[in-house]
Amino acid sequence: MSVERFADHIFPSSPATSRSEDLKGTSVVTLDDISTAQITELLHKARYIDTHRARVAHTCDGRVLATLFYEPSTRTRLSFETAMLRLGGQVIGFAGAQLSSASKGESISDTLKTVSNYVDVVAMRHPKEGAALVASRAASVPVINAGDGGHMHPTQTLADLATLQSRFDRITDLTIGLCGDLTFGRTVHSLIETLCRFGHVRFVLISPDELTMPQYVLDRIDANPTCSYTEVSDLVDVIGDLDVLYMTRVQKERFFNEDDYLRLRDTYILDEAKLKLAKPSMAVLHPLPRVNEIAVDVDSDPRAAYFEQVKNGMLMRMALESSVVGDALPGYESQVKKEVRV
Ligand code: NCD
Repeated sequence: MSVERFADHIFPSSPATSRSEDLKGTSVVTLDDISTAQITELLHKARYIDTHRARVAHTCDGRVLATLFYEPSTRTRLSFETAMLRLGGQVIGFAGAQLSSASKGESISDTLKTVSNYVDVVAMRHPKEGAALVASRAASVPVINAGDGGHMHPTQTLADLATLQSRFDRITDLTIGLCGDLTFGRTVHSLIETLCRFGHVRFVLISPDELTMPQYVLDRIDANPTCSYTEVSDLVDVIGDLDVLYMTRVQKERFFNEDDYLRLRDTYILDEAKLKLAKPSMAVLHPLPRVNEIAVDVDSDPRAAYFEQVKNGMLMRMALESSVVGDALPGYESQVKKEVRV
């Protein structure tokens, strides 16, 4: 199941006003840029989109999205692009800095000031932390961060939240293990930052000593008394306690030293033997791409949720793109009003 049953359970009595907060014109560098009510609203919209595909197919007619990808990507770029195409809009962009004027020395700010003349919304991925913030300040259209170095990846978090909601009917009151490269894995930084705003989550941070969670992320957990964390290095010791196991790839491209990467890349490999120790209801998440950290035999286990994440990522990007350009989903508001009345 994808984003089907949810949101009604998160805030069953949320007032109509908090559901209709306007995201038009908003850049999303991290999910801190939008309220928790707006995040919940995006979850509602994604569910509506999933069940009203034909009805929303012209929501963004005449809009253009630019995907500026200075780093490799399969899912994220194609998902941003498919999202706009499925809403009726069009897409321009580049995949690879070598094909853009960045290779001639153009700054991010100049590129964004230029591209703002062409499009209604930009999705940008860049190897440097902070690049999306710089871009959002230079652009005159909304910029969505599609990953800035080892920092943040907010739309992956939207996909992750939708997947938690569909699996558990909630995104809080969970014990969530995050395993692998916690230093450079931007998806886990974004996810923790956001879950800590909703509260009531126990994090189990599983990594080798060399790849522990950065202090600024730990500080976010500490700042919410309803959240807590433990740091461990052995997956087998803790797997039986987890509701969610979020696996990550060791981020080869962010290592300074190839030997360190080679030494650390095989630290955690989730296979069916280890899954036998886990709860039958545990969900295995992974932002993908995987290298070898999840054995292929796990794919057919009902606990594997990582291909659901992919679908949820597209639906959440459809919700976000239509919202930041200010295009209402046909029929959505009247459905919300009906639900609130009931
Ligand atoms: C992740 C990323 O780019 O940070 N992938 C993705 O966007 N789905 C994770 C990774 O590359 O390991």
